[in-house]
Amino acid sequence: MAMEKKASIEIVDERSFASVVAEEIATSVQEFIEDTGKCSLVLSGGKTPASIYRRLAIPPLSQQLEWKNISLFWGDERFVPHSDNQSNARMVEETLLHNITGGVKVYQVDTSLETAEKCAEDYEHQIRKHFGIAEGELPEFDLVLLGMGSDGHTASLFPDQEIWDSGKICVSTTNPHDNSVRISLTPEVIVRAKKVFFLVKGEEKADTLSKIHGTANDEKKYPALIYRRIPDRVTWFIDTAAGVRLSME
Ligand code: 6PG
Repeated sequence: MAMEKKASIEIVDERSFASVVAEEIATSVQEFIEDTGKCSLVLSGGKTPASIYRRLAIPPLSQQLEWKNISLFWGDERFVPHSDNQSNARMVEETLLHNITGGVKVYQVDTSLETAEKCAEDYEHQIRKHFGIAEGELPEFDLVLLGMGSDGHTASLFPDQEIWDSGKICVSTTNPHDNSVRISLTPEVIVRAKKVFFLVKGEEKADTLSKIHGTANDEKKYPALIYRRIPDRVTWFIDTAAGVRLSME
């Protein structure tokens, strides 16, 4: 029987986590650019990636990256103004974009629209236009960065939500922990990516990680489990604190 393919897991010392992961992202982005002349990079939100984006915004990595051939997207966004301190657009502006020139193309979720559904529809339209795809077709992003919450959510795909098999590119969702309204790429779009990096750090994630890489098997309970649909295209970058319960067989 064919061995079940496993996603690769890199356990990284917490002190070097940001620089190691930033280098891996830059290497992967440049590989896509060497292969096809461009890279569509989907950014994750929350706190984890901030230190990683800061390293991409300064030399040497900021000079290695051919920003004019990179298109940036968000895997998810909070339904707040970009000036809000909860905004992923603001976090990326402050950690990465403020320091980047050179023509990077940035596709932000327009959260000024009146409802999250309209934001999702508008973002879907922006993505279709970028990829030149029609209704019913789904994009194929080059590299998607994802975080994971301690409840097993990823992007803004939360447990027990109606987000599955919508056939859409983006949906609006609600974070059940604080009822904040979100816009998120759908599972079917995420798993079409050529490469997915999960970036997870902090001992508060250790227990959930041991389930995600162990006995958990219900995507609706643990949306981060979507990685199992594409194990050969997924790399988990986990710091030592978050990976403490993972048995590295
Ligand atoms: C968001 C993210 C979300 C995040 C996880 C982990 O907008 O919050 O996209 O999926 O990656 O919640 O967040 P932390 O990195 O803050 O722990």
